[in-house]
Amino acid sequence: MDYKGIIAKYKDVPGGIIEAFHAVQKQFNYLPEEAIVEAAKIFNVPVAEAYGVATFYSYLSVEPRGKNVIRICESAPCHIAGADEVVAALERELGIMMGETTDDGKFTLEYTECVGQCQATPVITVNGKPYAGVSPAQIAAILAEYR
Ligand code: FES
Repeated sequence: MDYKGIIAKYKDVPGGIIEAFHAVQKQFNYLPEEAIVEAAKIFNVPVAEAYGVATFYSYLSVEPRGKNVIRICESAPCHIAGADEVVAALERELGIMMGETTDDGKFTLEYTECVGQCQATPVITVNGKPYAGVSPAQIAAILAEYR
């Protein structure tokens, strides 16, 4: 389905523009500029306002992202438990820095706040699936599941 079709489904839903953005992102992994412009038309708001909504929520991204989005929890308990070393392992394995996407479009690295898995820190998520208590030594095997 194209952006227009997805967005139009939420036209009459209260606060529908956020849900529409969510749905577009689910399909395309980010919010392309054309989708934001289309949403502005459909919800009858200025483009700047639609863009403001798209950039306000940290779970929405206006930057192209990889097929697999890896998030690393940067809240204090994970940080103390060694999230930095996990970040270094991810950056080394993928050859990109935090916030970047691999050239083949397969992986994006992002930070996140606590994802509620603090019983075993540090925590990463891959496409929303949590991996708790990860160590740098486990990173290669976790990535292999998604390569
Ligand atoms: S602090 Fe990292 S999951 Fe809660």
